[in-house]
Amino acid sequence: MTDLAFTRTEADRLPAAEREAILADPGFGNHFTDHMVSIVWTRDAGWHDAELVPYGPIPMDPASSVLHYGQEIFEGLKAYRRPDGSVVTFRPEANARRLNESARRLALPELPEELFVQAVRELVSADADWVPGGQDQSLYLRPFMIADESFLGVRAAERARFLVIASPAGPYFSGGVKPVSIWLSQDLARAGRGGTGAAKCGGNYAASLLPQRVAAENGCQQVLFTDAATEDTIDELGGMNLFLVRRDGTLLTPQLNGNILDGVTRRSLIQLAKDRGHAVEERDITVTEWREGVADGSIVEAFACGTAAVITPIGRLKGEGLDIDFGDRAPGELTLTLREELTGIQSGAREDRHGWLTVL
Ligand code: COI
Repeated sequence: MTDLAFTRTEADRLPAAEREAILADPGFGNHFTDHMVSIVWTRDAGWHDAELVPYGPIPMDPASSVLHYGQEIFEGLKAYRRPDGSVVTFRPEANARRLNESARRLALPELPEELFVQAVRELVSADADWVPGGQDQSLYLRPFMIADESFLGVRAAERARFLVIASPAGPYFSGGVKPVSIWLSQDLARAGRGGTGAAKCGGNYAASLLPQRVAAENGCQQVLFTDAATEDTIDELGGMNLFLVRRDGTLLTPQLNGNILDGVTRRSLIQLAKDRGHAVEERDITVTEWREGVADGSIVEAFACGTAAVITPIGRLKGEGLDIDFGDRAPGELTLTLREELTGIQSGAREDRHGWLTVL
């Protein structure tokens, strides 16, 4: 435990009837709970002023470095309500570790892992009524860190703030587990060698927005990025990792090459697949290999994964001069099996044999 005590300021809570109406159909990222966490860092004093406060606007000087140079990182994790009413979260320490990896790359201060988990615990216990209990529902938690020193010189800020907000969530894609179409972006890249591709920073997502718009214009829900140098080696989707499944049950997923996010869902699925006796190859995978594999029947399933997306089957790959429909538009067998197992652990329906859940 850290010795940082939180001060708590109670919010005017949303009336229960209004909250319940939101929880009945929350969508994704539309509504926010009554409170948020804020912790301040300065180079001289370290982390201090840990607070649970009413959710609302944060004071921001127009010269704050985050507004000019994008010095920002974030995380995404979820809290789940189990049938017995208890609330758990999934591998929060993995998110805490990854936040610190992102912090190092973006020259932001590292946050003690236990303080990250404590912040999540503070917010979820204050706003526990906001954790929905319906099918595929959860409370999405968004921890993030911004540089808020007022200074226009280009250097690492000496003042930062860590916040956690929470948003009740249903499925990220409105169709649920219906296969999505993805758009191959080759001219517009997300990451390059030595860049920030492996960090969960706002800039990577900003870079994905124009290609994501192109994807939407072409009837696709997500954009697929390749390595900028080869335009063939697969990196990841706009906000998710990618897996392919071979006919022999082997899973293929791009290796952590410095360009892609070390997804907590990705890691968990690799473990669950291995537990079931599947081989998992983490290596370079090319669009060419995928196309040829679909054509000769050796690659039979594809899915996207992430905290928000959970596991979402991919039914179609489009791009300039490219349109591959993977068949019957039904989710693949292994895709569904892994999805059921992962969501089963998270919801309490399956045994948590790896000790991934933290009761809040
Ligand atoms: C998440 O999965 O938590 C992300 O941050 C990705 C984004 C598409 C919401």
